[in-house]
Amino acid sequence: MELTDFLSLIHPMIAVIFVFPLIGNVANLAWQARQRRLQTANKGKSKIPPVSGPEHRRLGELLTGAVVGLTLVGLAYPIGKNIIKNQLWSDPTTIFILLMFAATIASLVFLYRAKQKLWRGVFATLTGVGLVVLGAQDGVFRRTDEWYWSHYYYGITAALLMIFSLAIIQEIYRDRSHRWRIIHTILNCIALLLFIGQGFTGTRDLLEIPLSWQESHVYQCNFTNRTCPTPNPKPSQ
Ligand code: HEM
Ligand code: HEM
Repeated sequence: MELTDFLSLIHPMIAVIFVFPLIGNVANLAWQARQRRLQTANKGKSKIPPVSGPEHRRLGELLTGAVVGLTLVGLAYPIGKNIIKNQLWSDPTTIFILLMFAATIASLVFLYRAKQKLWRGVFATLTGVGLVVLGAQDGVFRRTDEWYWSHYYYGITAALLMIFSLAIIQEIYRDRSHRWRIIHTILNCIALLLFIGQGFTGTRDLLEIPLSWQESHVYQCNFTNRTCPTPNPKPSQ
Protein backbone atom coordinates (compact mmCIF):
# COMPACT_ATOMS: atom_id res chain seq x y z
CA MET A 1 0.00 0.00 0.00
CA GLU A 2 1.26 3.49 -0.92
CA LEU A 3 2.00 5.94 1.93
CA THR A 4 -0.79 8.29 0.78
CA ASP A 5 -3.36 5.46 0.94
CA PHE A 6 -2.17 4.51 4.41
CA LEU A 7 -2.43 8.15 5.57
CA SER A 8 -6.02 8.29 4.30
CA LEU A 9 -6.85 5.42 6.68
CA ILE A 10 -5.65 7.20 9.83
CA HIS A 11 -8.95 9.09 10.25
CA PRO A 12 -11.26 6.06 9.84
CA MET A 13 -8.90 4.02 12.05
CA ILE A 14 -9.10 6.53 14.94
CA ALA A 15 -12.90 6.68 14.51
CA VAL A 16 -13.35 2.91 14.70
CA ILE A 17 -10.76 2.10 17.37
CA PHE A 18 -11.20 5.06 19.71
CA VAL A 19 -14.12 7.43 19.01
CA PHE A 20 -16.99 5.01 18.42
CA PRO A 21 -16.31 2.86 21.52
CA LEU A 22 -16.18 6.14 23.49
CA ILE A 23 -19.56 7.18 22.03
CA GLY A 24 -21.00 3.84 23.24
CA ASN A 25 -19.68 4.44 26.75
CA VAL A 26 -20.92 8.04 26.88
CA ALA A 27 -24.39 7.02 25.65
CA ASN A 28 -24.61 4.15 28.16
CA LEU A 29 -23.62 6.43 31.06
CA ALA A 30 -26.07 9.10 29.82
CA TRP A 31 -28.91 6.58 30.02
CA GLN A 32 -27.83 5.49 33.52
CA ALA A 33 -27.47 9.09 34.73
CA ARG A 34 -30.98 9.91 33.52
CA GLN A 35 -32.56 6.73 34.95
CA ARG A 36 -30.86 7.30 38.29
CA ARG A 37 -32.05 10.90 38.47
CA LEU A 38 -35.65 9.91 37.65
CA GLN A 39 -35.65 6.91 40.05
CA THR A 40 -34.27 8.91 43.00
CA ALA A 41 -36.78 11.70 42.27
CA ASN A 42 -39.69 9.20 42.28
CA LYS A 43 -38.75 6.60 44.89
CA GLY A 44 -35.95 8.35 46.75
CA LYS A 45 -33.47 5.57 45.89
CA SER A 46 -31.88 3.81 42.93
CA LYS A 47 -29.63 0.81 42.37
CA ILE A 48 -27.72 2.66 39.65
CA PRO A 49 -24.34 3.86 41.04
CA PRO A 50 -24.18 7.61 41.78
CA VAL A 51 -20.97 7.97 39.74
CA SER A 52 -22.86 7.47 36.45
CA GLY A 53 -23.49 11.25 36.12
CA PRO A 54 -19.93 12.40 36.86
CA GLU A 55 -18.52 9.54 34.74
CA HIS A 56 -20.78 10.59 31.83
CA ARG A 57 -19.43 14.09 32.21
CA ARG A 58 -15.78 12.93 32.37
CA LEU A 59 -16.03 10.73 29.26
CA GLY A 60 -18.24 13.35 27.56
CA GLU A 61 -15.48 15.93 27.98
CA LEU A 62 -13.04 13.45 26.46
CA LEU A 63 -15.50 12.78 23.62
CA THR A 64 -15.62 16.47 22.66
CA GLY A 65 -11.83 16.51 22.27
CA ALA A 66 -11.91 13.19 20.41
CA VAL A 67 -14.58 14.27 17.90
CA VAL A 68 -13.02 17.69 17.27
CA GLY A 69 -9.60 16.02 16.90
CA LEU A 70 -11.02 13.39 14.54
CA THR A 71 -12.68 16.10 12.45
CA LEU A 72 -9.38 18.01 12.23
CA VAL A 73 -7.57 14.84 11.08
CA GLY A 74 -10.38 14.18 8.55
CA LEU A 75 -9.95 17.71 7.18
CA ALA A 76 -6.12 17.74 7.30
CA TYR A 77 -5.78 14.85 4.86
CA PRO A 78 -7.69 16.29 1.86
CA ILE A 79 -6.40 19.83 2.53
CA GLY A 80 -2.80 18.56 2.79
CA LYS A 81 -3.20 16.43 -0.33
CA ASN A 82 -4.45 19.46 -2.26
CA ILE A 83 -1.48 21.57 -1.09
CA ILE A 84 1.04 18.87 -2.08
CA LYS A 85 -0.63 18.13 -5.44
CA ASN A 86 -0.72 21.79 -6.48
CA GLN A 87 2.63 22.64 -4.82
CA LEU A 88 1.17 25.48 -2.77
CA TRP A 89 3.92 25.40 -0.10
CA SER A 90 4.62 29.11 0.03
CA ASP A 91 1.10 30.25 -0.85
CA PRO A 92 -0.30 32.69 1.77
CA THR A 93 -3.43 30.48 2.03
CA THR A 94 -1.26 27.58 3.23
CA ILE A 95 0.14 29.70 6.06
CA PHE A 96 -3.39 30.84 6.90
CA ILE A 97 -4.58 27.20 6.98
CA LEU A 98 -1.74 26.19 9.33
CA LEU A 99 -2.58 29.11 11.62
CA MET A 100 -6.28 28.11 11.56
CA PHE A 101 -5.44 24.55 12.67
CA ALA A 102 -3.33 25.94 15.53
CA ALA A 103 -5.98 28.54 16.50
CA THR A 104 -8.79 25.94 16.50
CA ILE A 105 -6.84 23.58 18.78
CA ALA A 106 -5.85 26.49 21.06
CA SER A 107 -9.50 27.67 21.29
CA LEU A 108 -10.60 24.18 22.35
CA VAL A 109 -7.88 24.04 25.01
CA PHE A 110 -9.03 27.44 26.35
CA LEU A 111 -12.67 26.24 26.27
CA TYR A 112 -11.71 23.32 28.55
CA ARG A 113 -10.13 25.80 30.97
CA ALA A 114 -12.66 28.63 30.83
CA LYS A 115 -14.93 29.04 33.86
CA GLN A 116 -16.85 32.23 33.12
CA LYS A 117 -19.90 32.06 30.87
CA LEU A 118 -18.59 34.81 28.56
CA TRP A 119 -15.26 33.07 27.89
CA ARG A 120 -16.89 29.68 27.43
CA GLY A 121 -19.13 31.31 24.80
CA VAL A 122 -16.20 33.03 23.12
CA PHE A 123 -13.94 29.96 22.93
CA ALA A 124 -16.78 27.63 21.88
CA THR A 125 -17.61 30.04 19.03
CA LEU A 126 -13.95 30.33 18.00
CA THR A 127 -13.50 26.54 17.96
CA GLY A 128 -16.66 26.12 15.85
CA VAL A 129 -15.69 28.91 13.44
CA GLY A 130 -12.23 27.30 13.08
CA LEU A 131 -13.79 23.98 12.00
CA VAL A 132 -16.16 25.68 9.52
CA VAL A 133 -13.38 27.82 7.98
CA LEU A 134 -11.10 24.79 7.61
CA GLY A 135 -13.98 22.82 6.12
CA ALA A 136 -14.40 25.51 3.47
CA GLN A 137 -10.84 25.03 2.11
CA ASP A 138 -10.02 23.54 -1.29
CA GLY A 139 -9.65 19.78 -1.42
CA VAL A 140 -12.38 18.98 1.13
CA PHE A 141 -15.07 16.84 -0.46
CA ARG A 142 -18.26 18.39 0.90
CA ARG A 143 -20.87 16.72 -1.32
CA THR A 144 -22.93 19.94 -1.10
CA ASP A 145 -25.35 18.88 -3.88
CA GLU A 146 -26.27 15.90 -1.64
CA TRP A 147 -25.80 17.65 1.72
CA TYR A 148 -28.43 15.42 3.39
CA TRP A 149 -26.12 12.42 2.77
CA SER A 150 -22.82 14.20 3.25
CA HIS A 151 -20.14 12.84 5.60
CA TYR A 152 -18.78 16.39 5.82
CA TYR A 153 -22.00 18.17 6.90
CA TYR A 154 -22.97 15.41 9.36
CA GLY A 155 -19.45 15.44 10.84
CA ILE A 156 -19.19 19.20 11.27
CA THR A 157 -22.68 19.37 12.83
CA ALA A 158 -21.86 16.56 15.28
CA ALA A 159 -18.57 18.27 16.22
CA LEU A 160 -20.39 21.58 16.81
CA LEU A 161 -22.91 19.80 19.07
CA MET A 162 -20.05 18.29 21.11
CA ILE A 163 -18.45 21.75 21.48
CA PHE A 164 -21.82 23.15 22.62
CA SER A 165 -22.16 20.33 25.23
CA LEU A 166 -18.76 21.20 26.64
CA ALA A 167 -19.66 24.90 26.78
CA ILE A 168 -22.93 24.42 28.72
CA ILE A 169 -21.81 21.91 31.39
CA GLN A 170 -22.11 24.45 34.21
CA GLU A 171 -25.56 25.53 33.01
CA ILE A 172 -26.75 21.88 33.16
CA TYR A 173 -25.75 21.66 36.83
CA ARG A 174 -26.92 25.12 37.90
CA ASP A 175 -30.36 25.13 36.27
CA ARG A 176 -32.93 23.75 38.74
CA SER A 177 -35.71 23.80 36.15
CA HIS A 178 -33.78 21.21 34.04
CA ARG A 179 -34.17 23.36 30.93
CA TRP A 180 -30.49 23.03 29.94
CA ARG A 181 -30.56 19.32 30.79
CA ILE A 182 -33.47 18.82 28.37
CA ILE A 183 -31.81 20.96 25.67
CA HIS A 184 -28.61 18.91 26.13
CA THR A 185 -30.48 15.60 25.91
CA ILE A 186 -32.44 16.53 22.77
CA LEU A 187 -29.42 17.96 20.94
CA ASN A 188 -27.23 14.99 21.79
CA CYS A 189 -29.86 12.45 20.75
CA ILE A 190 -29.60 14.19 17.35
CA ALA A 191 -25.79 13.95 17.68
CA LEU A 192 -26.15 10.19 18.24
CA LEU A 193 -28.13 9.90 14.99
CA LEU A 194 -25.44 11.93 13.22
CA PHE A 195 -22.75 9.58 14.58
CA ILE A 196 -24.68 6.62 13.17
CA GLY A 197 -24.82 8.57 9.89
CA GLN A 198 -21.02 9.01 10.09
CA GLY A 199 -20.57 5.27 10.37
CA PHE A 200 -22.66 4.83 7.24
CA THR A 201 -21.39 7.71 5.09
CA GLY A 202 -17.76 7.14 6.16
CA THR A 203 -17.73 3.48 5.10
CA ARG A 204 -19.55 4.43 1.87
CA ASP A 205 -16.85 7.02 1.12
CA LEU A 206 -14.13 4.45 1.81
CA LEU A 207 -15.78 2.24 -0.79
CA GLU A 208 -16.01 5.05 -3.34
CA ILE A 209 -12.48 6.49 -3.03
CA PRO A 210 -9.99 4.64 -5.27
CA LEU A 211 -6.50 3.57 -4.16
CA SER A 212 -3.88 5.99 -5.48
CA TRP A 213 -2.70 3.65 -8.31
CA GLN A 214 -6.33 3.32 -9.49
CA GLU A 215 -7.07 7.07 -9.51
CA SER A 216 -6.05 7.83 -13.12
CA HIS A 217 -8.36 5.05 -14.34
CA VAL A 218 -11.32 5.52 -12.01
CA TYR A 219 -11.47 9.31 -12.48
CA GLN A 220 -11.95 8.80 -16.22
CA CYS A 221 -15.38 7.44 -15.35
CA ASN A 222 -18.49 9.58 -15.59
CA PHE A 223 -19.87 9.58 -12.05
CA THR A 224 -23.24 11.10 -13.02
CA ASN A 225 -24.04 8.58 -15.74
CA ARG A 226 -22.14 5.81 -13.93
CA THR A 227 -20.19 4.79 -17.00
CA CYS A 228 -16.50 4.14 -17.54
CA PRO A 229 -14.58 4.13 -20.81
CA THR A 230 -14.33 0.61 -22.18
CA PRO A 231 -10.92 -0.46 -23.49
CA ASN A 232 -10.57 -0.52 -27.27
CA PRO A 233 -11.46 -3.97 -28.61
CA LYS A 234 -8.49 -6.00 -29.78
CA PRO A 235 -8.09 -5.84 -33.57
CA SER A 236 -9.46 -9.02 -35.09
CA GLN A 237 -6.81 -11.19 -36.68
C1 HEM B 1 -23.52 11.05 22.63
C2 HEM B 1 -23.59 12.17 23.23
C3 HEM B 1 -24.37 12.47 24.49
C4 HEM B 1 -25.62 12.08 24.88
C5 HEM B 1 -26.59 11.17 24.13
C6 HEM B 1 -25.88 12.70 26.17
C7 HEM B 1 -27.04 12.56 26.89
C8 HEM B 1 -27.21 12.96 28.20
C9 HEM B 1 -28.33 12.59 29.04
C10 HEM B 1 -29.53 11.74 28.59
C11 HEM B 1 -28.11 13.12 30.25
C12 HEM B 1 -29.01 12.98 31.51
C13 HEM B 1 -30.08 13.99 31.46
C14 HEM B 1 -31.02 13.82 32.63
O1 HEM B 1 -30.56 13.77 33.78
O2 HEM B 1 -32.22 13.75 32.34
C15 HEM B 1 -26.87 13.87 30.21
C16 HEM B 1 -26.31 14.56 31.26
C17 HEM B 1 -25.13 15.25 31.19
N1 HEM B 1 -24.30 15.35 30.09
FE1 HEM B 1 -24.54 14.41 28.33
N2 HEM B 1 -24.80 13.45 26.53
C18 HEM B 1 -23.85 13.34 25.54
C19 HEM B 1 -22.62 13.95 25.49
C20 HEM B 1 -22.14 14.79 26.46
C21 HEM B 1 -20.91 15.53 26.35
C22 HEM B 1 -19.99 15.51 25.11
C23 HEM B 1 -20.77 16.22 27.51
C24 HEM B 1 -19.66 17.14 27.95
C25 HEM B 1 -18.78 17.66 27.18
C26 HEM B 1 -21.91 15.93 28.35
C27 HEM B 1 -22.14 16.45 29.61
C28 HEM B 1 -23.21 16.12 30.44
C29 HEM B 1 -23.36 16.56 31.80
C30 HEM B 1 -22.37 17.44 32.59
C31 HEM B 1 -24.56 16.00 32.29
C32 HEM B 1 -25.13 16.11 33.72
C33 HEM B 1 -24.66 14.86 34.45
C34 HEM B 1 -25.10 14.81 35.88
O3 HEM B 1 -26.28 15.00 36.16
O4 HEM B 1 -24.22 14.52 36.74
N3 HEM B 1 -22.73 15.05 27.68
N4 HEM B 1 -26.34 13.75 28.93
C1 HEM C 1 -17.41 10.79 14.78
C2 HEM C 1 -17.32 10.33 13.62
C3 HEM C 1 -16.72 11.03 12.42
C4 HEM C 1 -16.56 12.37 12.16
C5 HEM C 1 -16.95 13.56 13.04
C6 HEM C 1 -15.94 12.48 10.84
C7 HEM C 1 -15.63 13.67 10.21
C8 HEM C 1 -15.02 13.77 8.96
C9 HEM C 1 -14.72 14.99 8.28
C10 HEM C 1 -15.08 16.39 8.80
C11 HEM C 1 -14.10 14.69 7.12
C12 HEM C 1 -13.58 15.67 6.07
C13 HEM C 1 -14.63 15.98 5.07
C14 HEM C 1 -14.72 14.98 3.97
O1 HEM C 1 -13.75 14.83 3.23
O2 HEM C 1 -15.79 14.31 3.87
C15 HEM C 1 -14.02 13.26 7.03
C16 HEM C 1 -13.49 12.54 5.98
C17 HEM C 1 -13.53 11.18 5.86
N1 HEM C 1 -14.02 10.27 6.80
FE1 HEM C 1 -14.85 10.73 8.55
N2 HEM C 1 -15.73 11.20 10.34
C18 HEM C 1 -16.19 10.29 11.27
C19 HEM C 1 -16.19 8.91 11.18
C20 HEM C 1 -15.73 8.20 10.08
C21 HEM C 1 -15.79 6.76 9.93
C22 HEM C 1 -16.39 5.79 10.98
C23 HEM C 1 -15.26 6.45 8.71
C24 HEM C 1 -15.08 5.12 8.05
C25 HEM C 1 -14.98 3.98 8.64
C26 HEM C 1 -14.84 7.70 8.10
C27 HEM C 1 -14.26 7.81 6.86
C28 HEM C 1 -13.89 9.00 6.26
C29 HEM C 1 -13.30 9.08 4.94
C30 HEM C 1 -13.02 7.89 4.02
C31 HEM C 1 -13.08 10.44 4.69
C32 HEM C 1 -12.49 11.07 3.45
C33 HEM C 1 -13.59 10.88 2.45
C34 HEM C 1 -14.06 12.01 1.72
O3 HEM C 1 -13.28 12.75 1.15
O4 HEM C 1 -15.32 12.16 1.78
N3 HEM C 1 -15.14 8.75 8.96
N4 HEM C 1 -14.59 12.70 8.18
